[in-house]
Amino acid sequence: MSFVIAIAGKGGTGKTTFSGLIVNYLIKKGKTPILAIDADPSSNLNEALGEKINLTIGELTEALATIDASAQGGVSKIEQMEYKINSAIIEGKGFDLLAMGRPEGPGCYCHVNHLLKSTITKLTKSYPYIVVDNEAGMEHLSRRTTGKADLLLIISDPSPRGIEAAARIKEVSKEVKLDIKTIKLVINRVMNDKLYPESLRVIEKYGLELAGTVPLDEAIMNLDGEKKPIFELPPESIAYQRVFNILDSLKIT
Ligand SMILES: Nc1ncnc2c1ncn2[C@@H]1O[C@H](COP(=O)(O)OP(=O)(O)OP(=O)(O)O)[C@@H](O)[C@H]1O
Ligand SMILES: [Mg+2]
Repeated sequence: MSFVIAIAGKGGTGKTTFSGLIVNYLIKKGKTPILAIDADPSSNLNEALGEKINLTIGELTEALATIDASAQGGVSKIEQMEYKINSAIIEGKGFDLLAMGRPEGPGCYCHVNHLLKSTITKLTKSYPYIVVDNEAGMEHLSRRTTGKADLLLIISDPSPRGIEAAARIKEVSKEVKLDIKTIKLVINRVMNDKLYPESLRVIEKYGLELAGTVPLDEAIMNLDGEKKPIFELPPESIAYQRVFNILDSLKIT
C-alpha cells in the first residue's frame, strides 16, 4: 500500500516548495521509490525538482480518446494507455514524476478519464510513497487520481484570512468526499516565529491541526532568484530544518 501525501493551499502559499522538500525528505530517509505527481495545471513542480516535462496527462487525453477500441495488433486499449502513461513519467534523481497538465478542452472525455483514473490508480500502487502537489481546488483530485490520501497538508500564509482560506479547503475536501486520513495545517513564511493572536483564534475556530510553521527563509528566496531547484536548499537553512522536523513529527510510515 502506498503512503499518499497531498499538498494543497491557495495560490502562492508555498505548495510546490513544500512538495519539493517532501520529496527531498523522503529520499534522504530512504523512503523510496517515490512518485511525485504535479496536479497543478500550471505545472512547475518539475522546476522545483530540477526536471523537464515532455508530456502531461492532459496532453495525452485527446490522443487516448482516439485510440481504437478494438485491439490493435493484439494490444488492448488498456495496454496502449498504460504504455502511453509510462512514457509520460520522468525518471528523476531518486524519484519519478508525472505531470497532470491542463484539463482537456470541450468534448466528451468521460470514458477516457475513467480509464485514465483506473490506469493511474494501478500505476500508483507500485510506488510506496506518493507526493501530490495540487492546485487550490480539490475536485480534480477525485476526478483523475484515486482521491485518497493518508496525509493532506494545507499550506497557508500566516494571516488570519489566509488561514480561513485553508479552513475552506479542508471543508471542500470533505464535500467532494475525498478519502483522507489526516489533515494538517502548515503555516509558511512566518516572521520571527510569531503567529498573530487572530490567526491562532482562526485555527481554533475551525478546529485546524497545526503541524508546524516554516520561517520566511532568505535561502529559499535566493534559490528562487537564481531559478535553482529547491533540492539545492542547504540542509543548514532554517526552512529545510523546520520542514524536516515537521515531517519527522508526522510519522510517515
Ligand atoms: N518559507 C519561504 N521563505 C521564502 N520564500 C518562500 C518560502 N516558501 C515559498 N517561498 C517562495 O514563495 C513563492 C511561491 O512559492 P510556491 O511556488 O512554492 O507556491 P505555490 O503555492 O506552489 O504557488 P502556486 O499557487 O502558484 O502553485 C516562490 O517564489 C517560493 O520560492
Ligand atoms: Mg505551485
